[in-house]
Formats: sequence, C-alpha cells, structure tokens
Amino acid sequence: MNKKVALTGIKPTGIPHIGNYLGAIAPALKLSETCEARYFIADYHALNSCKDPAEIRLMTVEIAAAWLASGLNPETMLFYRQSDVPETFELLTILLAFTPKGLMNRAHAYKAMLASNAEAGKDPDDGVNMGLYTYPVLMAADILLFDTDFVPVGNDQFQHVEMAQDIAQSFNFVYGTEGFRIPQPLAHADSRTLVGLDGRKMSKSYSNTIPMFAPEKDLRKLIMKIVTNSQEIEEPKDPDTCSIFSLYKNFGTPTQIAALRERYQAGGMGWGHAKQELFEVMNAHLSPLRENYNDLMQNQQVITKALKEGGEKARELAAQKITVLRNIIGIN
Ligand code: TRP
Repeated sequence: MNKKVALTGIKPTGIPHIGNYLGAIAPALKLSETCEARYFIADYHALNSCKDPAEIRLMTVEIAAAWLASGLNPETMLFYRQSDVPETFELLTILLAFTPKGLMNRAHAYKAMLASNAEAGKDPDDGVNMGLYTYPVLMAADILLFDTDFVPVGNDQFQHVEMAQDIAQSFNFVYGTEGFRIPQPLAHADSRTLVGLDGRKMSKSYSNTIPMFAPEKDLRKLIMKIVTNSQEIEEPKDPDTCSIFSLYKNFGTPTQIAALRERYQAGGMGWGHAKQELFEVMNAHLSPLRENYNDLMQNQQVITKALKEGGEKARELAAQKITVLRNIIGIN
C-alpha cells in the first residue's frame, strides 16, 4: 500500500519551547507513524529576516538537534535542509510564472507589513524584500516538489498551503496534466493553545515560555513561577481554570490526571504541591529528550551526517520530479 506523503517545513528559530513541542513536534512525529514523513529545515526562508551567518548556522543545528532528540528517526523519515535541495529553487522559478501578483498581495504576512507601515506613517513597502513578498511561492515549491498529500501546519500557515493549491492547479490546468499533486493543509490535531507561565497563551513574544530542554533546576524554577490565585491550602480548587493543571494534562497519564483532579476538588492541596506534581511529570517526560539533545549538541557531526544523508536522498527525489516538470513545460 502506498502511504500518503506528509511534509512540513521547520523554521530555524533556535531551541523550541514546550508549546512548540506539544503543538508541532509531537503531532508531526505521531503523523509519521501512518504517513511517509518528509520534514525539512527551511533555512532559505530564514534568510528573509536573518542576515547573521553565525545565527542561521546555530539555529539550524539547534532545531535539527531538537527534532532528532524528540524522536525523529532519520533512517525512516526524510530529514533534510532546504538549502541542500537546489531543485527547490528551480521549481520556484517555474512556479513564479504561474503565480498572479495579486495572489501575493493577499498574503496575510505581507498585508500585516503593509498595515504596520501605514500605522507608522511609512512607505507601504518599507522593509518588504522580494523574498518576503514571494515567500508563499517558495513554500509552494517546497511542498509541490515532493508530491505532498498532507502539510501539517499551524493555522497561520493555512493560507500559504491554499496558495500552493492554487498555483499547482493553475499549472495542471495550463498543461492539461496532473504535473502536481494537490496538497491538503492538516491542522495539528492538538491545536488548543497552551497557557504560559503568566496564564496567557505560551508564546516567545510574551516571554512566558518553558524551553524544552531547560536543565532540571531551571525547569523547576520556571514551574514554581507559574502565576496562581491566592486561594488557601484548605480550599477546594478548580482544575479547569488552572494553568498548572492545564499543563499537567499534557504530560500525566489518564490515571495521574484523574488523581490530581480529585486532589484539587477535595481541598487541602496548596499550589506548591500542584507545582511539584507538575514538575515531576514534566521532568520525567522531558529528561530523556534533554539528554538526547545535550548528547547531540556535544556530537554535532551526528546531526550534520543525518542532514547530509537526508539531503542526498531528498535531492534524488527532487531531481526526478524536475525532469518530469521540464518535460511538461518543454525545457528539456
Ligand atoms: N512557513 C512555515 C512557517 O513559518 C515554514 C515552511 C516553509 C513550511 N516551507 C514550508 C511549512 C512548507 C510547511 C510546508 O512555519
């Protein structure tokens, strides 16, 4: 039986926090059990906003280490850097000829830039480079190059995948052939937002995150900082409005979760106790990953080797696809 192809791009943004882990990494790895997974580091996408070579290099290594440490198996899954597959950029050139400029004008990320420039009284296109403007086309190239069926992404990326559909359909229509498979965006099964240390959505921009590989001591310190109300120890507490419990639900077993729920409702449990329980389940889950991560960062040639081998395999697939496309368009 032919498995469906799942592909997603990973932005090199440094070490992920547990919101990224629960929202993106864990579900993508789960999906790889039923699909043929192709996950790549979108390093050329990062160039639009980051011009610091050392930073791009470091972030690429860190994010690759994070995925490998979380259980990505480069033997069974295709894992590569976008920049190792130059066919991507040939496909980008092809796709640009099928992309109406108006489609790019409607991209949310670009429109957000226009709006913030307008607010600041600046030129509408201030700070907009063509890489940013055509970002959705590069993303379409990433996706269409590998005959992707499913693209697991956050909601903010749905529009980009829909643009890839539009561009692919336009190509298929022009040549009257199924040159491209039409990809479907797939919302992460678990897209409920995780609360951060201050009770708001966990997000880098709120500085309320828990880094995935925080050393044990720091992890405990962060958990102890979670904001709670001022209820006394004896008072019964509501688990369903509590940040500690909402985090706990992601790491405890069903039995553990039910037991903690009862302790909340019975009263006699202080916030310090709840935090200690949370620390224990989180640390048990994250310790092995943290160890893997530290090992990988100490032995970076393991990461480099995995990416290099993955890149070679990806290039073979990509080259075949480009040959087919060149035949269709008459550049062969
Ligand atoms: N744009 C995606 C993000 O910001 C990353 C990305 C690049 C991607 N190319 C992709 C995601 C292709 C899915 C498929 O997170």
